[in-house]
Amino acid sequence: MNMLDAETRAARVFSSNKGTGTGDALKLRGIQKYFKRRDGTRVPAVDGIDLCVAQGEFVVLLGPSGCGKTTLLRCIAGLESPDQGVITIHGEEHYSSADNVDSSPDRRKLGMVFQSYALWPHMKVFTNVAYPLQVKKVPRAEIRERVMNVMRTVGVEDLAEQFPGQLSGGQQQRVALARALVSSDGLLLFDEPLSNVDAKVREQLRFEIRRMQQQIGFAAIYVTHDQDEAMELADRIAVLNKGRVAQLDSPQNIYDKPADRYVAKFIGAANEVMGRIVTLGPGGSATVSTDAGPITGVLGQDDLAVGEEVSVIARPEKCRLLSATTSTGINEWAFEQATSLFVGANRRVVGRAVGWGNAQVQFSSREEQPVLGTSMRLHVPVEFARIYRK
Ligand SMILES: Nc1ncnc2c1ncn2[C@@H]1O[C@H](COP(=O)(O)OP(=O)(O)OP(=O)(O)O)[C@@H](O)[C@H]1O
Ligand SMILES: [Mg+2]
Repeated sequence: MNMLDAETRAARVFSSNKGTGTGDALKLRGIQKYFKRRDGTRVPAVDGIDLCVAQGEFVVLLGPSGCGKTTLLRCIAGLESPDQGVITIHGEEHYSSADNVDSSPDRRKLGMVFQSYALWPHMKVFTNVAYPLQVKKVPRAEIRERVMNVMRTVGVEDLAEQFPGQLSGGQQQRVALARALVSSDGLLLFDEPLSNVDAKVREQLRFEIRRMQQQIGFAAIYVTHDQDEAMELADRIAVLNKGRVAQLDSPQNIYDKPADRYVAKFIGAANEVMGRIVTLGPGGSATVSTDAGPITGVLGQDDLAVGEEVSVIARPEKCRLLSATTSTGINEWAFEQATSLFVGANRRVVGRAVGWGNAQVQFSSREEQPVLGTSMRLHVPVEFARIYRK
């Protein structure tokens, strides 16, 4: 797709084409937001977040309940005032604690899509989408053209005369997306928009959001606690932990090279054993003394020292099951199989290995399936035994 196409499309949807220029769509510097508890103590919901979203970039905020995802989005939208920091949208400062700037939500020109669709029940679909433009006193003919354009893009042009109550959840969310697109200057905020629709529709809408995002070229911050959704949608994922960014990276790197133990355990499944570093070897390798005996692995963090308490983490799909007669000579344990179950297209074998407690090994259906038996051995290849600070 060439740039001109993207700009023409964007100009038809957005009120300006800021979204397709160069530079950052959003820049956050040191954002802090405290809430007061009932006992008067102040707790940080957002605790010093720096984040840049480039034009046309899709950034997903991923983290457990209560880690500050919604609070951060509300600060960006101007629905909440941070206590510290600077928020710049399309190069314009909209919040600054030092400069005493805090602009109103409508001046930030963001589109927002929430978990609850937040459509006005007494307005037809067309009017719901048109409303942000009517408020801005955009001429009627232009409203008609832009609304119909965006409704076509989102695939709801046939529903213009319906009321929200007559639509399915998935259709309502498309309308909400259309409304967010017309009120935006190329930056959209999503707060778990798909958690109220069923699994099939969710998958389809996810795919379409990504397609539209690539076609129109808007930048987005998308909140979810669904890892698959994050992996599928994101250019970059910010994993949050207690109001801070634990790692900001591509989905692939977040999965293969988690930055710390928190991220390694939060993303995907993990077999884990605790221990202490005994020796450091060449190429970032190390030997760890654990309840499961010595394990040789690779350092997940490069500032670890001999004697440090660490955790060794191995993903189930990187572990192997060996028969009693084959041996690699390293990182092997007797494995007592408990159950074998199908997880989507994969088979997961759960069992016990001394020192590891419960351990899981996962096979894709394309791989050679192991012959499960009584005297199997669990093997963790050195490069997949990742070592993290406790
Ligand atoms: N208005 C408020 N007053 C007091 N505390 C609040 C308020 N809003 C949020 N909090 C607290 O701030 C923290 C972050 O909340 P937030 O809603 O941002 O989490 P979240 O990551 O969006 O969680 P979830 O995944 O459950 O939606 C929580 O500890 C929450 O209890
Ligand atoms: Mg939330």
